[in-house]
Amino acid sequence: MRQLLAISLTMITVSIATLGAQSSSEEGANAVLPWAYVLNEPTSNDTTAPDPNEVVTVPGSSVSMPRSEININNGPPDWHPDGHPTMPEVVAKGGGDGVVACGYCHLPNGQGKPENASLAGQPYSYIVQQMTDWRNGLRKTGEPRMGPPSFMERIGLAASDEEARIAADYFSSFDFKPWIRVVETDMVPETRFSGWIHKVIEGGGMEPIGTRIVETPEDLHRTELRDDASSFIAYVPTGAVARGEDLVNTGGGGKTETCTVCHGPQLRGLGPVPALAGRSPSYIARQLYDLQTGVRNGTWSDLMDEAVKNLSVENIVDIAAYTASLEP
Ligand code: HEC
Ligand code: HEC
Repeated sequence: MRQLLAISLTMITVSIATLGAQSSSEEGANAVLPWAYVLNEPTSNDTTAPDPNEVVTVPGSSVSMPRSEININNGPPDWHPDGHPTMPEVVAKGGGDGVVACGYCHLPNGQGKPENASLAGQPYSYIVQQMTDWRNGLRKTGEPRMGPPSFMERIGLAASDEEARIAADYFSSFDFKPWIRVVETDMVPETRFSGWIHKVIEGGGMEPIGTRIVETPEDLHRTELRDDASSFIAYVPTGAVARGEDLVNTGGGGKTETCTVCHGPQLRGLGPVPALAGRSPSYIARQLYDLQTGVRNGTWSDLMDEAVKNLSVENIVDIAAYTASLEP
């Protein structure tokens, strides 16, 4: 399989020159997958801002700080320093002009959040390749109005090779841990969009899930404090996991390709090909759609063409539900 992949990767570098990028739709991707490309609702929906001087902490941590210190300019709060190796400067504090601390969004242990991505345990060469694609303007988002992916585009443009390599070395050096609890259901708690994620409305009711995934923090308070030990729930439609398993493992009767050939048994990654198992279904859905529409058109992206070209929104929901349910 590794050999096959090496051959395909070589072929792609040859064929890329002849293949133009597919055109992206005029409308943002939020129109198609609003639950994955989250746009915030007007701030009037938010409760009053918490006291910036309040000293805060999280369970299992001996660290505490005034809330105002949790700030993108300060890098990530490091609540659990024993939970990861020592962060290099670019991850903890940021690098050159425009290179914001990777750990602020991706978290010190690289577990990531629905509005960004998990980096823990991804292959070193894959991470470096993605940074190169951003620098070359080949990886874009289908929904530029969604703040975090657009922010990542700017960081990717700004980061040097050296910074990309240091960050890749760090995040690939440890494993990704179970992070998503998948719950199949017909009804979900009502949520609103704020902070680029779904937040359960306190005292809200239940509503039909429809054809979507509702990924939300297990503990909103801890997630808002950027606690890298506080994980997520993904509500998915009843039956989605089994349908996704069929698509991934058999190609769903010609609808798509068998993913394990490239992504490895149990989708835990293979060579330079990224791992999918147990990762944020919101993120996975955005990538399947960005690859399908061609706004993500990196050096290796053509290898995904056959897998994504015929996927419907329901297929994307089912695949993301299944991949999220797998043990990393
Ligand atoms: C402001 C928040 C933010 C910061 C800071 C940030 N990222 Fe990201 N990153 C994102 C988002 C959002 C995505 C997902 C983009 C999408 O959904 O299309 C992402 C995705 C990625 C991916 C792709 C993961 C994959 O599986 O393909 C890599 C690699 C990455 N970031 C590396 C970095 C590095 C290295 C740094 C530090 C130099 C960094 N990021 C800093 C927000 C951030
Ligand atoms: C021929 C090999 C191949 C097959 C088959 C394949 N993939 Fe991929 N996949 C890749 C490569 C290579 C990448 C990295 C693309 C890039 O760098 O833009 C990728 C990237 C992805 C990503 C983005 C991951 C991330 O962290 O950003 C997702 C999601 C994905 N594949 C899902 C699937 C699914 C689901 C299937 C089966 C239905 C599948 N792939 C089949 C090779 C493959």
